Amino acid sequence: MRIRECLFGLSMAVLAMGFQSCANGARRENRSGHDLWLGDITSTPQAVNKSLLSEYDNKLGDEGFRISRNDRGESVIYANTEAGLMYGTYHLKRLMDCNVKMTSDILEVPAYKYRILNHWDNPNGTVERGYAGKSLWKWDELPGQIRPEYEEYARANASIGINGTVLNNVNADARMLSREYLEKVKVLADIFRPYNIKVYLSLNFAAPKHLAGLQTSDPLDKDVIKWWNEKVAEIYSIIPDFGGFLVKANSEGQSGPQDYGRTHADGANMIADAVKPYGGIVMWRAFVYAAESPDRAKQAVEEFMPLDGQFHDNVIIQIKNGPVDFQPREPFSPLFGQLEHTNVMAEMQITQEYLGHSNHMVYLHPMWKECLDADTYQKGEGSTVAAETLGKVHGNTQWSAIAGVTNIGDSVNWCGHHMAQANWYAFGRMAWDPDLSSEQIVKEWLAQTFTPQKKFVEPVATMMLASREACVKYEMPMGLHHTFKGPDHYGPGPWDRSSRPDWEPAYYHKAAADGVGFDRTSKTGSNAVSQYHEPLRSLYDNAETCPDNLILWFHHLPWDYKMKSGRTLWDELCYTFEDGIREARSFIRTWESVEKYVDAYRYGQVHDKLVRQAKDAIWWRDATMLYFQQYSNMDIPSDCTQPQHTLDELRRFRLGITNYETPALDKLPEYTLE
Ligand code: GCU
Repeated sequence: MRIRECLFGLSMAVLAMGFQSCANGARRENRSGHDLWLGDITSTPQAVNKSLLSEYDNKLGDEGFRISRNDRGESVIYANTEAGLMYGTYHLKRLMDCNVKMTSDILEVPAYKYRILNHWDNPNGTVERGYAGKSLWKWDELPGQIRPEYEEYARANASIGINGTVLNNVNADARMLSREYLEKVKVLADIFRPYNIKVYLSLNFAAPKHLAGLQTSDPLDKDVIKWWNEKVAEIYSIIPDFGGFLVKANSEGQSGPQDYGRTHADGANMIADAVKPYGGIVMWRAFVYAAESPDRAKQAVEEFMPLDGQFHDNVIIQIKNGPVDFQPREPFSPLFGQLEHTNVMAEMQITQEYLGHSNHMVYLHPMWKECLDADTYQKGEGSTVAAETLGKVHGNTQWSAIAGVTNIGDSVNWCGHHMAQANWYAFGRMAWDPDLSSEQIVKEWLAQTFTPQKKFVEPVATMMLASREACVKYEMPMGLHHTFKGPDHYGPGPWDRSSRPDWEPAYYHKAAADGVGFDRTSKTGSNAVSQYHEPLRSLYDNAETCPDNLILWFHHLPWDYKMKSGRTLWDELCYTFEDGIREARSFIRTWESVEKYVDAYRYGQVHDKLVRQAKDAIWWRDATMLYFQQYSNMDIPSDCTQPQHTLDELRRFRLGITNYETPALDKLPEYTLE
């Protein structure tokens, strides 16, 4: 059996080698009583008492816990439920791993009620935008063969507070709802249940046609409604605590209610009504856009605002953090601050579709936190995206939810890049507590994954904390977006052509003789700024007040436009790219400085990838700026790294990979690092 790497400080490898029964893990982490078992998973044995409260404590709810010290100096975890005891146990373990002393009582309650991973895994074993090998789910082996990884996955998720998982791709195969697949899903649901994790499925809206041979999948047709009701009853008879559905409808070729002249609300409500008696939810995605639209960034608001108030209460509209598509930097999606009578949740991408796949070390928590902390001003100051999605702005906290598109596969290190595990970890911690800082989370992860020694944790945390901003700078600085090559989204391709105009980089960067950037202003542009509340609307509308890091998202500016720094726009772009290149190079030096703290295997793999990341940084800059130079006729300043390839060479370069792969390091353009 392959030995999987440890995750988040848990002794996975031991489980995988069969030294310890998997089921014991769950029972031990949950059960109340007095034991010494923390010694099994940490180096320091610790006496821990766990106690279910005899009277329900409303402050703790169904998942919270309290930890205090008794007069014998032992830790005591109290909770209303077994799940609460489990989360308290993991919390205590985390404190021990991180050498944090408990100075007072601890009370922890998760912020979001639904903390969900979204797998984009297909029945054939591929993972859309997956860069960690094949799917973890071996559908062809299930239900008969059960891999130990399934429980390891559940245990790792439970340790960071994840309580739900959507098993299959939003581009859903109708087969997932067949009896045959439901029997397989049941096996996973049974394994996850002791860890307080529910399973959900993405559904194909045309399933009544594809699976049952009905003439239509019209959500108002009585046979269609009957089919869904029966299908849902069947699912709950097999998986009594099934969580519900995730739906991508009328988006990128997926079927949906609009195929039958119905609205998103008609479709969502039909499914929501079917799961309602069982306590299920429907997460209906707002990721919709039509090729004809002059500004893709506006479409979610345009389509969903007229439906505000029409969705049933167990429908949650799942909105990507930004209005386009998981770019390294986007402003927050204005839809968060527009809907008033509809539940909203955020969808973050943990897999690095647009951030260097599993070749680049990019710690994503700062990017997600930027979104959650952003103020929509919907009801005045303080209406942050976090407050909106927690239901605090409209006083409806019952449906608070957050989703992360996972980066997990069957690769031995789970995520394709050792450092990418930090993003899975960070997503769970953020869903539990969105107020935690990026720094605290990354330090916890480093201490649990490598060593708590300060001389390791401090420099590596600093490097990881800088990595997202560095990636923005070397890929798409100053509000540029979607300058990628398609369809793999690895590497630059500002010249790229596609079957749809809105899949072409030129739709977004609009580089021409008169300048660069997407004009979304009120007077001359698409007026996307109008979807933001004041004071943001005016701030973004005016190039002089628009933050530099979003300026080309909202403005089309001449190449010699005078920036706040006094430089021309062209020079500012060159120097910002240059900062990104320098930072990527500095990551290699940081990593080399901590070599003695890391085992040779992980050290070497991370090192090779950091070298590639630094080379890719130059590649990105070369391609983008050499392409733009055709229009600007300006030079790359002599104190910047000089291009190592011509535009023609870069244009001829082909990667030839699919949406399911990350490129091999030796298949990428060669670059020399100084
Ligand atoms: C992006 C991604 C697709 C994915 C889609 C989605 O467009 O490239 O692979 O299906 O997002 O979120 O539905």
